[in-house]
Amino acid sequence: MEYRISDVLLTEKDLAARIRELGEQIGRDYEGKELVVIGILKGAVVFLSDLVRAVPPSVDISLDFMAVSSYGDSTRTSGIVRIVKDLDGSIKDKDVLIVEDIVDTGLTLSYLVKMMQERQPRSVRVCALLDKEERRKVHVDVDYRGFPIPDKFVVGYGLDYGGRWRHLPAIYTVEQK
Ligand code: IMP
Ligand code: MG
Repeated sequence: MEYRISDVLLTEKDLAARIRELGEQIGRDYEGKELVVIGILKGAVVFLSDLVRAVPPSVDISLDFMAVSSYGDSTRTSGIVRIVKDLDGSIKDKDVLIVEDIVDTGLTLSYLVKMMQERQPRSVRVCALLDKEERRKVHVDVDYRGFPIPDKFVVGYGLDYGGRWRHLPAIYTVEQK
């Protein structure tokens, strides 16, 4: 089936304004602290790059990345998460913030949070740009959330459909041609 991008759900302006707020909030919460920001590849990279630049210099941020792939097709997760690339550094005794593009069923994030906790960090929090609340199958504490969105498949600003459209500067819904 062929798909194409459809309506704009969130504009560049919407994203920038909300990300500025999230950055300030993270700045207040971690002022004077070291924070390891963990980006989940590939979907979170565009969001992460804007988010960390919205956090004031009073937070001592370092970056690490993890790549995961979930078995299933491109629009659904199976809940079985495979680590394709692990973190470069240790997070033991560190404050950690996991940055993800979207929480859908919650399976990916709940798995990752559990895995991170086993490494005995000082704290683990989650920041997700988008939240499809209706679709949740398992509970995840999303400490910093950009936007709740309806149950529609979205692309752009890091999010893909079969690898496409990550580079779009706004968030769009997709529809069948
Ligand atoms: P979850 O494990 O069901 O919460 O799924 C999270 C992952 O599914 C995200 O990291 C995305 O890669 C993918 N995903 C879920 N919904 C969408 C969407 O609307 N657009 C693009 N990717 C999505
Ligand atoms: Mg994806």
